[in-house]
Amino acid sequence: MNSSDNLNNSFLKKESDGFLGKIVAIANQKGGVGKTTTAINIAAYLAHYGYKTLLIDMDPQSNATSGLGFSQNSVNISIYSLLVYNEDPNKAILKTPYENLKLIPSTKQLSGAEVELVTVFKREFRLKEVLQKLEDNYDYIIIDCPPSLGLLTVNALAAVKNIIIPIQCGYFALEGVAQLLNIIDLVRRSLNVKLEVEGVVMTMYSRSKLADSVISEIKNHFGNKLYNSIIPRNVRLDESASHGKPIIEFEPGAKGAKAYDELAKEIIKRYKNKGLTILESSLII
Ligand SMILES: Nc1ncnc2c1ncn2[C@@H]1O[C@H](COP(=O)(O)OP(=O)(O)O)[C@@H](O)[C@H]1O
Ligand SMILES: [Mg+2]
Repeated sequence: MNSSDNLNNSFLKKESDGFLGKIVAIANQKGGVGKTTTAINIAAYLAHYGYKTLLIDMDPQSNATSGLGFSQNSVNISIYSLLVYNEDPNKAILKTPYENLKLIPSTKQLSGAEVELVTVFKREFRLKEVLQKLEDNYDYIIIDCPPSLGLLTVNALAAVKNIIIPIQCGYFALEGVAQLLNIIDLVRRSLNVKLEVEGVVMTMYSRSKLADSVISEIKNHFGNKLYNSIIPRNVRLDESASHGKPIIEFEPGAKGAKAYDELAKEIIKRYKNKGLTILESSLII
């Protein structure tokens, strides 16, 4: 590591105070675009850089839960109990083997929540109420959304300020993105005025003319919201999930690990720069 890397890395480190908690939903209603892989791995790298990080699994398929090595059978209290029965969220939090990284797991029971919440007052705000009890304890809360635009995703969008959208580099990449942006707009107007797209990350890239033209189309649309770090198609990422480990633990030298490391650094830098801008403008006032 050279000295500029050292400088870079000290910039990334968490300062002891003055850092506002960030709650981010990883959302795209298409399945298989890399939401869970992105959620697990950015959470793991944020934790690695010293940020207290909580990953919340909002998908009944529970891939983020198993991707961190927990089996559904071992889960007592899941996100389901918090959303439907108002359980104390602290009882659901699992310690992971990784410093600074905690998990609120899900189980397939969560698939019932959409129906069970139908008659509940303010049902779109159940997750927001959960997060209000937790957010002061974390620097980052990352929410892995399910592949749908139902009540669970709406709960996530109503609870966060920021969304990161993973888009798979492929022919159907843009399919559904317009619909997702419409929903984001709708949620912004009706439930959460602060909601904004924080960034877009291209996933499963393998070099081809098609993939490159998809990326330039996304760049035209999203401008500098598109992260520079592009996640390559890398079988080690797939394997790490099946071993229940984030890639930083499974194979930190893998191409996919480096890409997620870079992505986490970009996320941290953007927030730090935003923080500086807010600080500067408050000094001017
Ligand atoms: N960059 C990648 N390279 C190779 N396989 C990947 C990559 N990202 C995700 N995968 C694999 O593709 C599948 C779908 O990814 P996943 O993150 O679960 O998507 P989603 O949560 O959007 O449904 C999983 O088996 C995952 O391990
Ligand atoms: Mg998933």
